[in-house]
Amino acid sequence: MQRLEGKTVIVTGGGGGIGGATCRRFAREGAAVAVLDLNLAAAQQVAERICEDGGRAEAFQCDITDRVSVDAAVAATTSQLGPIDVLVNNAGWDVFKPFTKTEPAQWDRLIAINLTGALHMHHAVLPGMVERKRGRIVNIASDAARVGSSGEAVYAACKGGLVSFSKTIAREHARHGITVNVVCPGPTDTALFEDYKQGAGNPEKLIEAFTRSIPLGRIGQPDDLPGAILFFAGDDAAFITGQVLSVSGGLTMNG
Ligand SMILES: NC(=O)c1ccc[n+]([C@@H]2O[C@H](COP(=O)([O-])OP(=O)(O)OC[C@H]3O[C@@H](n4cnc5c(N)ncnc54)[C@H](O)[C@@H]3O)[C@@H](O)[C@H]2O)c1
Repeated sequence: MQRLEGKTVIVTGGGGGIGGATCRRFAREGAAVAVLDLNLAAAQQVAERICEDGGRAEAFQCDITDRVSVDAAVAATTSQLGPIDVLVNNAGWDVFKPFTKTEPAQWDRLIAINLTGALHMHHAVLPGMVERKRGRIVNIASDAARVGSSGEAVYAACKGGLVSFSKTIAREHARHGITVNVVCPGPTDTALFEDYKQGAGNPEKLIEAFTRSIPLGRIGQPDDLPGAILFFAGDDAAFITGQVLSVSGGLTMNG
C-alpha cells in the first residue's frame, strides 16, 4: 500500500534539487503533487516526469514572497488536485558572504524567501487544514539553524526562526490534528550548494573539508532527503510534532 494514496501535497521550490526529489518520491507514494516554484519551467519538468512515470502532478508558478501569488497557487492546487493534506515548505535561497560584507537589501531578500515565504504558505494553507481537522506540515530548515554556518549568517537566522516558528505552530494547531515538523539538510549536492561552493572561493577544498567532517563520509544527495520528509508527512508520524531532524550524514548530532 502506498503511504500517501489519495493525499494532496504542496512542495514549494519543487523545481529544485531537494524539492524535485521530494515531489517524485511523494508521487510514487500515491500523492497528487502540486509542484510550486518561482521557476515555472523547472516545476513543469518535474511535474511532466512524474506524469510520464504514471503519477499525478501539476506545476504552478509561485513566488512565496508575494502573498497574492501564494493565494493564487493554493487556490489553483485546491481546485485542480483537491484540499491540501500536506505542505512541504522547501523553497530557499542564500548568499554566501561574511556578514559584514552583506548589504541590508540582501538581508531583505533572504528574509523574504527563507522566512516570510514560509509564513505566507502557512497562513494560506492552515485555515483549510483547521477546518478539516487534519494536516501535515514539514518545513525544510538547515543544519545552519542548529549549529551556525560561516558565510550564512542571515540565512541561518531565518532557518533558526523557521525552527522556532514551526514549534509554535505545532503547539497552536495540535488540537486541530495538524502536525508540524522540521527536516534540516546538511551540505547537499544541488544548485544552492553549487553557489555555496563558488562563494567559498575554493570549492575542492570545501568539499574535502565537509567530507572529512561528515561521519558518514560524503556530501548529501537530493534523494537522501525525501525519506525523512515522507515519514513526517505520513501516518507513522501521527504522534510526532514540533520535532527537528537533521539529515546530514551525522554532521550535526543533537540530543
Ligand atoms: N543544498 C544544501 O546544501 C542545503 C543545505 C541545507 C538546507 N537546504 C535547504 O533545502 C531547501 C531546498 O534547497 P536545494 O538545495 O534543493 O536548492 P535548489 O536551489 O536546488 O532549490 C531551491 C528552489 O527554490 C526555488 N525558489 C527560490 N526562491 C523562490 C521563491 N521566492 N518562490 C518559490 N520558489 C523559489 C528555486 O527556484 C529552486 O527551484 C532550501 O530550503 C534550502 O535552504 C539546502
